Amino acid sequence: ESLADFAHTLVAWYRVNARKLPWRETTDPYRILVSETMLQQTRVETVIPYYHRFVEAYPNAVALADAAEDDVMKLWEGLGYYRRARNLHRAMQVVRDAYGGEIPDDAEAVRALPGVGPYTAGAVMSIAFNRPQPAVDGNVLRVMARFLSITHPVDLPATKRTITDAVDLAIHTEEPRLLTQALMELGALVCVPRRPRCEMCPVASACLGRQQGTAPELPLKTAK
Ligand code: ADE
Repeated sequence: ESLADFAHTLVAWYRVNARKLPWRETTDPYRILVSETMLQQTRVETVIPYYHRFVEAYPNAVALADAAEDDVMKLWEGLGYYRRARNLHRAMQVVRDAYGGEIPDDAEAVRALPGVGPYTAGAVMSIAFNRPQPAVDGNVLRVMARFLSITHPVDLPATKRTITDAVDLAIHTEEPRLLTQALMELGALVCVPRRPRCEMCPVASACLGRQQGTAPELPLKTAK
């Protein structure tokens, strides 16, 4: 009930407050995978021009699969973490050779593609295919640790499991593609690190971290 309310309120907020971003103009799984791969370690403003150039040069999985690796790497130049590009290129060769050129509507198959971890698989399944698969990145860990006042370190597998289970419950109550993006958007615009902007948060009244005054310090990480 409470996670369903959370999901519903968050999605209503997202419908009004979502930034207009190029990868939000499409549900094409290929474009969602390209954008999520670029966004993994790179900020939104940096990604935007790269995303445009990339999907213009390679408009679909087969076009990318058939490209020369050097050309792919050249388009990635400046984004860093070049293994992402190499893996994406290989992943599209798998999609071409094993799935007829279309990214499969199948969580296990997507997860098995080179370079695709649980977060990226969840993002593609929920945003592109509208399947109720949780996509938990750093933003979502922070939002959920605060909302549920989870004071265990979020880099522990058990804590990540708890948060993923909560998102899994929430996502079954809403349009998956909207909930996944709403969680990320809240983390990017409102529930930001250090100084969360609780006064503009749509779910502040139910947020345990806010009630307990712990929100700014969350999420905790294990000392390394
Ligand atoms: N960060 C990761 N995925 C994102 C998305 N789809 N939109 C904005 N920021 C993101």
